[in-house]
Parts: sequence; C-alpha cells; structure tokens
Amino acid sequence: MKFKSQKVAYWFFAACMVLLTLQIVYGFIMGFARIGLDGLHDFIPFNTARAVHTNLLVVWLLTGFMGAAYFIIPEESDRELASVPLAYVQLISLLVVGVVAIVGFHFNWWEGRKFLEIPRQLDYLVVINVLLFLGNIGWTIWNGRQHTTTSLVLYFGLFCAALLYLPGMIDFENQTTDSFFRWWVVHLWVEGVWELIMGGILGFLLIKLTGIDREVIEKWLYVIVGFTFLSGILGTGHHYYYIGAPKYWLMIGGIFSMLEPLAFLGMAIYAIVMFRKSGRQHPNKMAIQWSVGCALMSFVGAGFLGAAHTLPQVNMWTHGTLITAMHGHLAFWGAYAMLVLAIIAYAMPLMTGRKLWNTNSATFAFWSSNIGMVGMTAAMAVAGVTQVVLERRSGMDFLAVQREIQMHFIGVLCAATLFALGIAFFIYNFFAHGLPTDEALEAAPE
Ligand code: HEM
Ligand code: HEM
Ligand SMILES: [Fe+2]
Repeated sequence: MKFKSQKVAYWFFAACMVLLTLQIVYGFIMGFARIGLDGLHDFIPFNTARAVHTNLLVVWLLTGFMGAAYFIIPEESDRELASVPLAYVQLISLLVVGVVAIVGFHFNWWEGRKFLEIPRQLDYLVVINVLLFLGNIGWTIWNGRQHTTTSLVLYFGLFCAALLYLPGMIDFENQTTDSFFRWWVVHLWVEGVWELIMGGILGFLLIKLTGIDREVIEKWLYVIVGFTFLSGILGTGHHYYYIGAPKYWLMIGGIFSMLEPLAFLGMAIYAIVMFRKSGRQHPNKMAIQWSVGCALMSFVGAGFLGAAHTLPQVNMWTHGTLITAMHGHLAFWGAYAMLVLAIIAYAMPLMTGRKLWNTNSATFAFWSSNIGMVGMTAAMAVAGVTQVVLERRSGMDFLAVQREIQMHFIGVLCAATLFALGIAFFIYNFFAHGLPTDEALEAAPE
C-alpha cells in the first residue's frame, strides 16, 4: 500500500504542466521574432522573452523535482509525509514568487544575469520556500521507518542544490568575480548536484520498473552518479576560459569536462542493461520509455553535444553562439525535462487509479516531443555553425549574420510545432487521469 500524503505530488505535477506550457509560448515568441515576426516587441522584447523562457524552465523543473520528492520520500521512508498542509503552503508560495518574478521581468525588474534574473528581494523568499520544503522532506526521512540509499541521495542532491543557490546572491562590483560565482549556481547545478537528484529519481524508477533488487541498482548507479558529480566539479573550468580567470582553468576545464560525457554514457548503458535484464515486465510501458529515454538523451544532449564545444580550442569560437543554445535545449530536455515527465508518467496511474499508460496519445506524446526536440536541436546546430563561420571566422558584422541565419529558424519553428504537439498530448493525457484519490493509492501495488 502507498501513502495518502503522496497525493501532494499531483498538484506539483499539475503546476509543472501549466508552467511548461507557458515556457513553450515564450519559446515561440522568440522563434517568431527570429524570423522577423516580432509584433509583440513593444510589450515582450526578445530579452524579456528569453529570461521568462529560461526562468520558467528552471521553475517548472524544480517544481517537478519537489513533486517527485513528495511522491518518493514517503514511500522510501515507509511513512506519511511530515506535514501535508505545509507542502501546500510551500507550493502556493513558490508559485506566487514565480508569478511575481515573471511579471516583474516584463517591467524590467530583474538582475540581468542569465538564468539568475530573479531580483534579490525575491531570492530571499525563494530561500525561505526551499527551507520549508527541505524541512518537511527531511523530517519525514529522519522519522522514517527505513532509510534507503535512494532517499538519501535524493535528499542530499536537493539540499546541495539549495546551498548552491547562495553564491548567486553575493554582491560583486567586478564582472569577472560575478561571472565566476554565477557558474557555481548554473554549472554546479546542472552538471553537479542536479545529477544527484537525477540519480535518486532515476534510481527509484529503475527499482520500481525493472523489479531488480534494490542493492544491485543502487550500488552501480551511485558509483556512476558519483563519477559524474566529481568530474563536474572541476569541469566548471569550461566556463572560466576567457572571462578573466587564471589561465590554468584552460587545462583543468578541458580535461575534467571531457570526462563528464563518459559518466553520462555509463548511466545510459546502465539503464538500458537493467531494463533488458529485468525479469518481470512492468505494465507501465510509457514510464519505462521516458526513463530509458532520459538516460539516453541526457548522454546525447549533455554528454555528446556538451563535449562538442567544451575544449578551449573550440569554445573560443563557439562561446555564446547558437551552438550553446543547441546544446542547452537537448541537455535540459534529455536530462531533466524527460526525468520529470518520467516520474509523472509513473506516478499518475498509481495516484489516480486510471491506467492510461499505453494509450495512443501517450505514445504519440513521447515520440512527437522527442523527434521535435531533436529537430530543433539540429536546426539550431546548423544555424550555430553558420554563425560561427560567418561572424567569428570571417569577421562579418553581428547583425548581418543574424539576418543570414534567419531562415534556419523556420526549421526551428517547424520542429518546435511537432515538439509542442507532443507536449500538448502529454498534458491532455495528464489531465485525462483525473484527480488523485486515497482509494487509488491504497490499492496501488508495491
Ligand atoms: C544535464 C547536463 C547539462 C545541462 C542541462 C547543460 C546546459 C547548458 C546550458 C543551459 C548552457 C548555457 C549556460 C549559460 O550560458 O548561462 C551550457 C553551457 C555549456 N555547456 Fe552545458 N549542460 C549540461 C552538461 C554539459 C556537459 C557534460 C558538458 C561538457 C562535456 C557541457 C558543456 C558546456 C559548455 C562548454 C558550455 C559553455 C558554452 C558557451 O561557451 O557559451 N555541458 N550548458
Ligand atoms: C516550442 C518550443 C521552444 C522554442 C521555439 C524555443 C526557442 C528558443 C529560443 C529562440 C531561444 C533563444 C536562443 C537565442 O538566444 O537566440 C531559446 C533559449 C533557450 N531554451 Fe528554448 N525553445 C523551446 C522549448 C524549450 C524547452 C522545452 C527547453 C528545455 C527543455 C528549452 C530550453 C532553452 C534554454 C536552456 C535556452 C537558453 C539557451 C542558452 O543559454 O543559450 N527551450 N529557446
Ligand atoms: Fe558547464
């Protein structure tokens, strides 16, 4: 039997669906602006759309991680959540802060540091919010009837993510030092502690979906995750090449960031092998597809496409071009968006009792969104390479080059439509499940 308090997760996941939709809307606004259809410019200029798009991404992923934790931790700790009302207070306050920040961006109330645009005053509210979350989850684990490696890795990841939010809140006069510590948040999140969160959630899914012994899954998975984590720490150097930081970062950043893809590859192979070995076939095929897909696509987007521009000799040409956007899209999609969609696909039938796992719309959602995202990435890659050659190698004017690459954004928009269609079906499927019930959770299998 499962726990009634796991229902909290549903509302976090529902919020994810809304925020993801908004993120895509702002993606389209930018895509159209890129081909010259910029009618909204006076209200939503490109830089505003960009900040809203990326911040919404971070907020919906964090909301998804929190939902995942509210679902996983009671089960792993074998007890109800410490406080259900606190979880709802935390969700509502998180959404209020998010909405205020997003509205503020439209009135130029922001910090102007990519990914960390949220104004300082709101940062403090974010900190309080996250402390409430960590307290609630931590209390549940502390008083749990069992302490599993999976729950501890997940908690440690969430805890470190909160801790690493703080370097972004220090005031610096100097651009280089500001940039230096901005990467402690941005890089050490996605290539460091978020990978622990990924390990925890993926570990939970592998245990449930393959039926293989927890000991086997946990032992190797966490060795791999540990390796990713360690290579990622010094891998931060790949952002210190030409920003005014000491020269030794060229060497350190190049070598250690080149080790990161190996860990992602290890994770992908491991997940696939575990599913192939799994004795009993779990009926929720969609959750299996999203989980394996996540392990695989995170290697392609983060590992492979990250390696493509991580050496200083390459990065000196590609830095800050559409090559970065190409990698940013598939890496975030593969590693973290697919992870959140995987846990949602797994949890929804259990919380609602409706087994909508192998419907045509669920299958279509998976393939259409993935093919669309790969298409977007490819179109951005072509635009990015063209940009590097024309602007950086031939010395053509920045804006003249932007006009040259305009047509590639028609490709981006076509692929984005396919992607958005897939997501629309995922969201349709989500709400078709209906609301979570106590009866469904009580009847859910182990
Ligand atoms: C899931 C993991 C990852 C995610 C979500 C991710 C995402 C991103 C994003 C969004 C940026 C742009 C950041 C900014 O300019 O503020 C970026 C930059 C970068 N990433 Fe990743 N990344 C991941 C893993 C990796 C890995 C494993 C490598 C190397 C093998 C890598 C190499 C790079 C490099 C070199 C840049 C700098 C690009 C530039 O100079 O403009 N990334 N990444
Ligand atoms: C309809 C779908 C989408 C469209 C049309 C779209 C379009 C765009 C555009 C045009 C940019 C700005 C690139 C530039 O600077 O010129 C951007 C940035 C970005 N988008 Fe999207 N996007 C979409 C969905 C997504 C999704 C689902 C994710 C994550 C899973 C994502 C992650 C990002 C990231 C991380 C950046 C910043 C990249 C960087 O730092 O260079 N986008 N997007
Ligand atoms: Fe990085």
